[in-house]
Amino acid sequence: MKISALSFVLLQLLCSYSNCFHVAAPLQHTTTTVLPATADAVEAPDEKTIQHQHCQSPGDRDILVRCARGETVERTPVWLMRQAGRYMAAFREYSTKYEFRERSETPAMATELSKQCHRAYGMDGIIMFSDILTPLPTLGIDFDVVRGTGPVISTEVKTEADVDALGDATTDSFDEKLPFIREILADLSKEAEEANTSLIGFVGAPFTLAAYTIEGKSSKACLDTKKMLMAAERGDNEAATKFLDKLATMIGLYGCHQIECGAQVIQVFESWAHQLSPDMFEKYAKPAAQKAIKIMKEKYPDVPVIYFANGGSSYLEKQRDMGCDMIAVDWSIDMAQAREILGPDVPISGNIDPTILFGTKEQIEQAVRDCIDRAGGPGKHLLNLGHGVMQGTPEEAVGWLVDECKRYKGKDA
Ligand code: CP3
Repeated sequence: MKISALSFVLLQLLCSYSNCFHVAAPLQHTTTTVLPATADAVEAPDEKTIQHQHCQSPGDRDILVRCARGETVERTPVWLMRQAGRYMAAFREYSTKYEFRERSETPAMATELSKQCHRAYGMDGIIMFSDILTPLPTLGIDFDVVRGTGPVISTEVKTEADVDALGDATTDSFDEKLPFIREILADLSKEAEEANTSLIGFVGAPFTLAAYTIEGKSSKACLDTKKMLMAAERGDNEAATKFLDKLATMIGLYGCHQIECGAQVIQVFESWAHQLSPDMFEKYAKPAAQKAIKIMKEKYPDVPVIYFANGGSSYLEKQRDMGCDMIAVDWSIDMAQAREILGPDVPISGNIDPTILFGTKEQIEQAVRDCIDRAGGPGKHLLNLGHGVMQGTPEEAVGWLVDECKRYKGKDA
């Protein structure tokens, strides 16, 4: 991993410069991003001022964690999947200059990228800037994120012999093979405490990581993976089931590692759930995800785990017994219906359509109020989008969503 020394020093300068504006919440503050005007510096964006009112609630430090555990809290907490991303000009200062792995595996950059959005909008949690693919090299699976293409995986896993040739996860493989994770989470832990907010860790679910690896990249139909699952079902080839099992162990241990390094809540991303029929989910993806979750919950019963199946709302009733603390739902189901299917006792997160953020302030605020009301009123769920923030989302729209969520006191208030 090579970094041009001069530009990295400039980025460090940028980090400390923007940190001048970081005042621990809860406070009213203004975040201004101005870059040093040096010839070699990343090109300066227009001066951008984002103003918002941080919530004054005293429970901010752990309101998200308590909510994920299923407590009714004093207001609805909020964070956004992909809250650190290219919709922010400050993020693009890095993403146009440095490759994804360099950004996510260099602690100073990864921590800065994790904090930018929290500084600007004051969500109820900071999520580590990383990727669901990050731990794959611990098993000997190599990946890259290619601009314009997305994730690309070069290690072929198609046969039982391919699976047997992969490494096994052990508890110390993460410090050894991903030393940057401990450093990033240790730093973010301190930052989260100072900013009076929670620290969110995350993992990809076994089926999603298996499918990414088998397909080698994003895929429309996920055909090779599904053919392998059908071969396993016929008893012809156990590669897919063995691979899911190996991944489940690695992911469970990796989640534990993140908790040991400071993460206070773990979200499990089953991002390719839309590729699965309810039957295939039940037979393959679900038991593998349950195994990963069980490893985390047995070791750390007090740390909440959130399970998110993107496109899985058509089989939501099958997710009631994942073994996690909270179910995050995608945007294709009405929140009131999701609540009805899961029942009153399963804590819920979600589920505003990410494209709402391209609407007006009024539309965004209305969507926030509707989502909160349908989930049972303020304090009864964790507000999020029903998938990640999209590229091109207007920056101020994210602030409107966060602010309205923190402000809303319910229909009768
Ligand atoms: O703010 C956050 O949520 C934390 C950071 C985060 C990233 N990826 C950073 C990232 C998280 C939680 C993820 C998880 C992730 N990665 C998922 C699950 C969420 C989902 O969308 O369902 C998935 C499917 C991936 C795989 C992946 N990695 C994709 C689809 C991409 C985008 C490819 C592209 O070019 O659009 C990546 C790369 C990636 N990971 C980006 C970011 C911000 C964008 C590329 C970049 O920054 O260079």
